Amino acid sequence: MTVGLTTRLTDASAASVAEAARCLRAGGLVAFPTETVYGLGADAANAAAIARLYQAKGRPAFNPLIAHVGNLAAAERIARFDSQARALAEAFWPGPLTLVLPKARGCPVADLATAGLDTIAVRIPAHGVARALLQAFGGAVVAPSANLSGHVSPTTAAHVRADLEGRIDMIVDGGPVEVGVESTIVGAFEPPMLLRPGGLPREAIERRLGRALAMPPEEPASATNQPLAPGMLASHYAPRTKVRLLAADVRPGEALLAFGATAMLGLDNAVAVMNLSDAGDLAEAATNLFGYLRALDAAGAKGIAVMPVPNHGLGEAINDRLRRAAV
Ligand code: TXA
Ligand code: MG
Repeated sequence: MTVGLTTRLTDASAASVAEAARCLRAGGLVAFPTETVYGLGADAANAAAIARLYQAKGRPAFNPLIAHVGNLAAAERIARFDSQARALAEAFWPGPLTLVLPKARGCPVADLATAGLDTIAVRIPAHGVARALLQAFGGAVVAPSANLSGHVSPTTAAHVRADLEGRIDMIVDGGPVEVGVESTIVGAFEPPMLLRPGGLPREAIERRLGRALAMPPEEPASATNQPLAPGMLASHYAPRTKVRLLAADVRPGEALLAFGATAMLGLDNAVAVMNLSDAGDLAEAATNLFGYLRALDAAGAKGIAVMPVPNHGLGEAINDRLRRAAV
């Protein structure tokens, strides 16, 4: 077990980033901020480091990881881009978009990180600290969200500490993240497919492609089939407290996760109220989502009632995470 490690918590200074890059090179596990959520990084070419990463997260090893790189040249060393993939990369990288692509010949990423698939998930994050770290490190860094498997993703260094202190080597604190939900994952196949809604709205991608994104098959992949995006497991983001969606009222003992105006029946019943965005702003709501779910999960409520959130733009990712939280 990796429990019992001393986890170094550092600021995001140049010296700390250089230390983090050395730590990755030595096979260490480093949590760092991206624009979407905090990631838990390991050297993508080091199978032993990746095995430790799965162990630290308590994540089932069949779940493949996203390879993070600093620039397009580094991406092309691990994945093959056709014209459609290149168009998406040029339009949206760096940014909250992950592309699933065929592995490049001689791809140095360990098979353990891709769970034996012949495709690889790649992205260039748009966060100064992430980019500085990737540049200092040089190679690809695999990084799932820096939470224990099954918990909601961390949007602050404090969330990372709460889940992973004593299980990883370093946490680089770059302050709260900007986007707040994970990257949008697109399978750059024919037809292109939305594998996970996320921080880049589907509409923006469809505008760039000039056509609609296909949806993956509804049926959960069977144990014998290779899952397209196993992170889409229904309970991936579940808090411990029971979550009730599309709430039009608050029942006794419940906490309320609100969105917009809260002229609700039974508001006095709420043991705690947090509003994702008073103004009804979806970007603000995405930023607050995981932190508020964590806070309300700790409020000792009988359940968490969640108000409806519109399903366009970032609302698609917010509703996706809320549905998983309610399983
Ligand atoms: O915003 C993000 O994407 C964050 C930050 C840290 O970059 N990372 C993140 O990683 O959310 P993770 O491991 O929590 O989710 C990765 C998702 C999983 O749903 C996984 O199944 C999917 O990517 N994935 C990885 N490789 C894949 C592949 N070859 N084909 C299909 N899905 C893949
Ligand atoms: Mg995750």
